[in-house]
Formats: sequence, C-alpha cells, structure tokens
Amino acid sequence: MLPSYGWRWIGHRVDYAGDMSGEYVGDEDLLRLLEPGDALREAVARAGGEVHRVGPFEAYLHADPHALGFQYAQPIAPLPDEAEVVVGLRDLKDLFRERGQPLSIEFNTLLFPELPELLESEGLAVAEREPLLVLDPADFTPSRRGDVEVRFLRQDDGDDAFSAYLRIFTEVLLERSYAESSDKIARLRSETQQSGGRSHALATLAGKPAGTGFISVLDGVAEITRVATTPSARRRGVAATLTSVMLEDAFASGARVAWLTAAGQPARILYQNLGFRLIGERLYYSPAAPS
Ligand SMILES: CC(C)(COP(=O)(O)OP(=O)(O)OC[C@H]1O[C@@H](n2cnc3c(N)ncnc32)[C@H](O)[C@@H]1OP(=O)(O)O)[C@@H](O)C(=O)NCCC(=O)NCCS
Repeated sequence: MLPSYGWRWIGHRVDYAGDMSGEYVGDEDLLRLLEPGDALREAVARAGGEVHRVGPFEAYLHADPHALGFQYAQPIAPLPDEAEVVVGLRDLKDLFRERGQPLSIEFNTLLFPELPELLESEGLAVAEREPLLVLDPADFTPSRRGDVEVRFLRQDDGDDAFSAYLRIFTEVLLERSYAESSDKIARLRSETQQSGGRSHALATLAGKPAGTGFISVLDGVAEITRVATTPSARRRGVAATLTSVMLEDAFASGARVAWLTAAGQPARILYQNLGFRLIGERLYYSPAAPS
C-alpha cells in the first residue's frame, strides 16, 4: 500500500470473497512497482509516523491512534526462509502488542504466494480480500458529469469543507455516525498541508457535498483510496467524476501508473469503466478470532 498518511483502507467490509486467480492476468513486474520504497518511508516520516523493520516485515505506526494510513505492516520481498519469517512475525506481534494496536498485515498475493499458509499457521486469518486494479495512463477513459464539481481540499479552506469530507468518509466508509470535532478537523487540515493540497478531493452535486476521495503519488505511482458517495447522491456520476479528476491531476503531474483496491462489485465496475484492469488481489491478515 502506498501513499502517505490517510491512504490506507480502513474499516470498510468487502462483499467479495473467494479465489480470483482465474479472473486476472498477473503482472509481477507491475506489481513490484507498487511495493513499498523509500518514497513511502519518507512520506510516513513527514506525516509524523514511524517505520519499523522487523525481520522481513515493515510496520508503519503512529503515536496518534486516529491517524489515517498507519498501524499496519507489509512483507518486503524477497522473503527469507520460513524459520526467519516466523521469527519476524512473532517480533511483529510483540511490537503491535506493545503499542496497543491490533496487528494487520497486507500484501499482494502474487508476490508472496507462500505467505498465507505461514500466517495462518501462526494464528492469523484473512480479514479482507480485495481485487487489485491498475491503470495505465494510455487506457484512461475519464468520465465527468457536468453537475458534479470536484476540488482538492486546501489547508486554508474553511471548517465546513473539512467537516463535509469527514462526515462522508466516516458515515460511508467507516459506517459510523460522525460527531464533529475541532481535533478531527485540525488533523485533516494538517494532512492536506503535508500532501501539498493535491490529495483530498471533495465532490459536490448541485452545490451539496456528495463524495470523497484520496490520492497519493509516490515515485510516479498513484494510489487512490477513500472513494465514497453519500447514498442519496449515488448513480449520478459523483465517484466517476471525482476519481477522474484525481487521476487527471496525477497523470498531468507525471504519475506513470495508478492503482487501487475495489471494495465490492459497484466499485469494481466503476473503476473498470475508467480503464482500470484487474491484476491481482490484495489480502489483509489479522489475528484469527478465538474459536
Ligand atoms: C461505489 C461507489 C463509490 C459508487 O459511487 P457513485 O457516485 O454512485 O458512482 P457513479 O455514479 O460515479 O457510477 C459510475 C459507474 O460505476 C458503476 N456503478 C456504480 N455503482 C454501481 C452499482 N451499485 N451497481 C452497478 N454498477 C455501479 C456504473 O457503471 C456507473 O455508471 P452508470 O450509473 O452510468 O451505470 C458508492 O456506491 C459507494 O460509496 N459505496 C460504498 C463505499 C465504497 O464501496 N467505496 C469504494 C471504495 S473502493
């Protein structure tokens, strides 16, 4: 998972399960391009987070438990032998326990085919499994609806804009009710500052806040998350327009590829219509529930 702060997918349950290996054409070179690199580590540090290397894993933690895009780990290829992976995994569990965080490990299946069995033998289970899609700028077919306006939040925007973004994000993606708070607004304002005002997109439909999205570009690789449309504004082109605007901006400023995971069939159709193609799946592991 790339992006800076806030790019991690959190909270939303997928309505998809199963093995998708018959459905996509895997492209290992492309998948490797999406793997974490120094740009991600620098972005984590800029956002006030910490990167911990634990055996073959890398963990991204933040002292603020509400900071978006933190408190998860991913494997770094190539994996060492099984015994070393197990030692690293146990250390990783200790690290998350010490920090009072539930362990969450995510990775692209094709690059780590042996990892699921190993994680499962160490007491972890798949929490989510999402289709992974990529977009080559040459395949991009933007879609814009005239009555949908999209703009990136900027640090000097009024509280209303931040509050609208947080409300949609919280209610649609976290499926929780939103209680306005100046702390949350300040945190989001600071996130927009760290990302240079080109990451958090807010869509309005007939002047009313209707959708959100987040994009981060690291080393020419764009990742999109937090795409959400309020239930009353759905099927009116809000998400398609918002995603198109974010991608146009990223490609215009030099991104070579974009990727995302689709949480559910509507999202998958939406992204495939914009030119994304399925190249794999991303797994999210956490400790298995006690039986
Ligand atoms: C998925 C979601 C973002 C779509 O938002 P939206 O604003 O309604 O999407 P759009 O109106 O821009 O849809 C564009 C196209 O996507 C496809 N699409 C969107 N929703 C669909 C649905 N429920 N069923 C089938 N296709 C759908 C259609 O092709 C649609 O074009 P059309 O309406 O002309 O047929 C919205 O349903 C949502 O917020 N869901 C919950 C959160 C979520 O899953 N977010 C995605 C994270 S990856």
